[in-house]
Order: sequence, then structure tokens, then C-alpha cells
Amino acid sequence: MAQLVGDVLLLVFTELHDDLASLYSCTLVNTTWCHIAVPLLWKHISFAYEKPLNYKLSLESREKLYNVIAHFIPNDPKDPLPQNNIILPLKKFSRKPIFEYMNFFTRITPYWIKDMVQLSINDKVKDSKHKKNILEQEIYKLIFNKCNNVKHFYWDTKKKLYRYPNAKSFFSNLRSLEFNFEVVTSKTLFRLAMICQNITNLEINDCDEDFPGLVSFIKIQNNLQSLRLHFDDEVEEQYTMLSNIIKKKASILKTLILNPIITLISPIFIPSLKNIQYLILSNDGGELYESVKWREWEYYLTMSSFPYLQHLEVSYLPSKIVCLIVEKSGKNISEIIIRYPLESDDYPSDNKNLIKVISNNCSKLVNLTMNVDSKNLKEMGMIFSNCKLLEKIYFTTNVSILPDGDELLRVLSNISPKTLREFSFGDKWNFSLKGLESFFESWKRKNKFPIKFIHYYDEWVYSWTDDHDKIVEKYKNEKVIR
Ligand SMILES: *[C@@H]1O[C@H](CO)[C@@H](O)[C@H](O)[C@H]1NC(C)=O
Ligand SMILES: *[C@@H]1O[C@H](CO)[C@@H](O)[C@H](O)[C@H]1NC(C)=O
Ligand SMILES: *[C@@H]1O[C@H](CO)[C@@H](O)[C@H](O)[C@H]1NC(C)=O
Ligand SMILES: *[C@@H]1O[C@H](CO)[C@@H](O)[C@H](O)[C@H]1NC(C)=O
Ligand SMILES: *[C@@H]1O[C@H](CO)[C@@H](O)[C@H](O)[C@H]1NC(C)=O
Ligand SMILES: *[C@@H]1O[C@H](CO)[C@@H](O)[C@H](O)[C@H]1NC(C)=O
Ligand SMILES: *[C@@H]1O[C@H](CO)[C@@H](O)[C@H](O)[C@H]1NC(C)=O
Repeated sequence: MAQLVGDVLLLVFTELHDDLASLYSCTLVNTTWCHIAVPLLWKHISFAYEKPLNYKLSLESREKLYNVIAHFIPNDPKDPLPQNNIILPLKKFSRKPIFEYMNFFTRITPYWIKDMVQLSINDKVKDSKHKKNILEQEIYKLIFNKCNNVKHFYWDTKKKLYRYPNAKSFFSNLRSLEFNFEVVTSKTLFRLAMICQNITNLEINDCDEDFPGLVSFIKIQNNLQSLRLHFDDEVEEQYTMLSNIIKKKASILKTLILNPIITLISPIFIPSLKNIQYLILSNDGGELYESVKWREWEYYLTMSSFPYLQHLEVSYLPSKIVCLIVEKSGKNISEIIIRYPLESDDYPSDNKNLIKVISNNCSKLVNLTMNVDSKNLKEMGMIFSNCKLLEKIYFTTNVSILPDGDELLRVLSNISPKTLREFSFGDKWNFSLKGLESFFESWKRKNKFPIKFIHYYDEWVYSWTDDHDKIVEKYKNEKVIR
């Protein structure tokens, strides 16, 4: 019975995972509750440091947290902290901590380590730089020794971590690893490849060289399923070794994320992406490279197929390329997000093709974001009638010619997909007040679901007025709009 109560409490507390204040209150009830709630609170901490500077925890919470952590750093007279005159923890507990808190970490990012070092050692003290260095080392040693449940690690330090005690066991247990290439060298990766071979998720930031070390690290992974590569956008040469090794691994990849210049990598691996489910190709930094080898992409895409693709997200890609990916995706795709199509000689016709291809491959499509050329509004009818599960759409258009908006609303009311819950749009659609009103009237007549109606401002275009807001307000009151 006691066992059951614990399990039930765990379920209840897990529901509270976002409500830290309540979870905290639960820890104060009695030891039973405390033992169940504390690990959940600490789980939250693992995820609170995903970004630099944007801490989700207040300064006071962070100081308390670091004070707890400091209790676990070895502190005998011969240990590095006392040896270097570093007095930590700042507020010593009268008893040993009850929990092995370090075991509650599941993710380690450098942000709390840097923050802890910064807050623990005053810049003004003698040898502060040296002391900070020692403390950082001690924290990493602590992590390798005590954090037995870490699955994700973000490597963002020049320290040779692979030499630390227990690094082998720590890194061989990892499933997910992120690197900052501004600090990691080829040698680090060669060394790491010897002790870390079971990564399922690999994320690389600021990759600025065709590193042999990186290639060898990727090669040795026996279970790589997800790869995110962020290239340094000042590089101009293609990464040949990297393309080749991705080709070797591509058939087991489920997730691939490339940005911000996808043409830095040769598309030879594309036909091997047979099991890909989640694909993001951002070419944001490569927008201006007119000479890029899209022909080569077309060539490899033509001989590919992605039967398991579910999520496709692209930006600054030619419509032709996007068409090919969707066309080769089979019918399982549930989310398509196409931002900022690259201009082409005949954009309206390329855009028309894209609409056609999507409408022929959309039986599972739920979310769609795309640009619609004003000449192709009739074609949008195919999307509304073929994509029977469509819930969320976001349409932009690239020139404001009147009365585009009204025409789009008319097409949408005529077909009126039953599942649609959310309609977002860019400002250039310019709806007339009358057009807007008759759209909501028609929605009211035909549909049960209130629709979410979200208006985004484009730069320099102000077609949406206070009068538009009044109409929206009116239909909100009538529960036609949520
Ligand atoms: C802990 O508190 C809860 C809620 O008041 C109570 O149901 C439970 O019996 C207590 N457990 C112990 C061991 O005191
Ligand atoms: C590799 O990771 C998988 C889970 O992703 C695990 O089942 C397997 O035991 C691990 N293999 C080794 C050699 O650690
Ligand atoms: C389609 O997706 C579902 C899950 O949404 C999956 O079970 C099924 O195997 C997929 N089929 C194909 C052909 O990809
Ligand atoms: C996807 O669309 C293309 C072009 O409209 C069509 O030829 C193809 O048959 C569709 N794919 C599937 C799997 O239906
Ligand atoms: C559609 O978008 C919503 C909100 O962004 C998201 O929660 C949901 O998972 C998406 N659905 C699919 C099938 O991708
Ligand atoms: C915008 O539309 C015009 C006219 O339809 C077309 O010529 C142009 O290429 C388009 N530009 C973009 C970025 O879509
Ligand atoms: C939007 O359309 C109205 C006419 O309905 C026109 O007066 C107005 O100038 C247009 N606004 C923009 C930003 O194009």
C-alpha cells in the first residue's frame, strides 16, 4: 500500500512539474513527500539553463543552488579549493545535505557552471582569474564523479575534459552531446571519440572547418539518430569530408538540422536519408549566394524518397527544391513550414507548383506555413479541400495588391475545412472591412469551431486598422473567434 501511495504521489507531482511553488510546498509536508518532490524540482533545474544570460531562475535562487552544489566539491585540506584559498560553500550547512543532489542532473550546460564561478569568486580578490579556473575545474570533476544520470552534455570549454578522472564512464553514458566549435579542437574530438561512442543526438555550433576530428567522431558513433550542424557563415568552401561522413550515417538519421548555409555541404547524402522524420534546412545566411549549386540539390533530390518524413521546415530555399522534398515525402507529412522563398525568374508559377504538390501530398498535414503569390489564390482551394486534417495555417504574401486578402478569405469560406482552428497571416493581405465581416459570417454559419485569427505586421505595411480590430472584437464576443 505504501508503495502505491508513493507511485500515485509521483504521478500527481509530475503533473505539477511547471508549478515550482506548489512542488516546493510539497517538499515541506513530510519526508515521504519530500523524497518524491525534490528530484522533480531538480529536474527542472536541468532544463533551466538552456540559454546563456536568459536565466529562468532569480539571482537569489541561483546563489542558493550554487551553495548547495558547493557542498559536494571536495574540501579536505589537501583538496584544490582549500589549497588555493577558495572558501566555499559561502554558507555552510550545519549538516550534510540529505540528498545526493548531483544525481538529479540529467542535462549539463556550461551556463550554470560559468555563472556559479562568476558568482562564487569576486573579481576583486587576489588571483581571482586563477581561482576561477580552479573552481571551474573542480565543478567539472564533480560532474564527472557524481552526476550519474546525465544524458545531455554541452561542451563549451577549452579544458581537456577527457583527461579528468571518471571522464570515460561519464562520456560513455551520454546520449546527447553539443559542441561549441569556437573552443573545441580536432584533437579534442579524436580523444573523445575513444570514450564516447553511443551518442544518439549530436549538435555542433559554429562549425568553421572540415575537421578530421569531427569526421572521425561522427564515424565512430554507432547509434547516431539526430544531427544538428550550425555552420559558421563566414566560411566559403564546401565541407567535403563532412558530406561524405553524413552520407555514411544518413540512412539511420531520423532528425537532421542544417543551418544557416546549407549549400556549404554537398547534397550527396540526400538519397540516403531514407528514414528521416524531422528535417530542417535553413539557408538564412546563404540567401545572397546566387551561384549556389541548386542544380546539384535537384539532381540528388530527384533520386530520393522520404517515406517517414513528418516535419519539414525550410527557409530561403528555391521553391523548386521545396517542391521536390514534399513530392518525395510520401503522405505522412504533418507539418510544413516554408519561410522566405528565394526569388526565381518565374516565382508565381513555381509557387503554383508548390501549392499543387502540397495539395497532392497532404492527407496527414496539420500545420502549414507558406508564402502564397497573389496570382495563385484559386489554387489554394485545392489545399483547403484536399488537406482534410489541416488545423493551423500561416500565410504570407510578397506584394500587397488589392484586394488579395478578400479573395483569400472567399476561397477559405467556400471550402471551409472543418478541422481548421487557427489562421495567421501577414499584413500584406489587406482585407477590406466588408470582406472580413462576410468571412466571419460565413464561418459562423458553417463551422462549429471558433477560429483563432492572428495578424502579423509586415515591415512598412499597415493595412490593419482599428476598424478591423472592432470587427474582430465583435466576433470574439459572438465566439466565432477564439
Ligand atoms: C505525509 O503527509 C501526507 C499528507 O498529509 C500523509 O498522508 C502521509 O501519511 C504522511 N506520511 C508520513 C510518513 O508521515
Ligand atoms: C547505447 O545506447 C542505447 C540507448 O540509446 C543503450 O540501449 C545501449 O545499451 C548503449 N550501448 C552501450 C554500448 O552503451
Ligand atoms: C506514418 O506515420 C505514422 C505515425 O504518425 C507511422 O506509424 C507510420 O509508420 C508512418 N508511415 C510511413 C509510411 O511513413
Ligand atoms: C506528391 O505530389 C506529387 C506531385 O503533385 C505527386 O505526383 C505524387 O504522387 C504525390 N506523392 C504521393 C505519395 O502521393
Ligand atoms: C502544429 O502546431 C502546434 C502549435 O505550434 C504544435 O503544438 C503541434 O505539435 C503541431 N502539429 C504537428 C502535427 O506538427
Ligand atoms: C514576389 O512576387 C513577384 C510577383 O508575383 C515575383 O516576381 C517575385 O519574384 C516574388 N518575390 C518573392 C521573394 O517571392
Ligand atoms: C488596403 O486596402 C484599402 C482599400 O480597401 C486601401 O485604401 C489601403 O491603402 C490598402 N492599404 C495598404 C497598406 O495597401
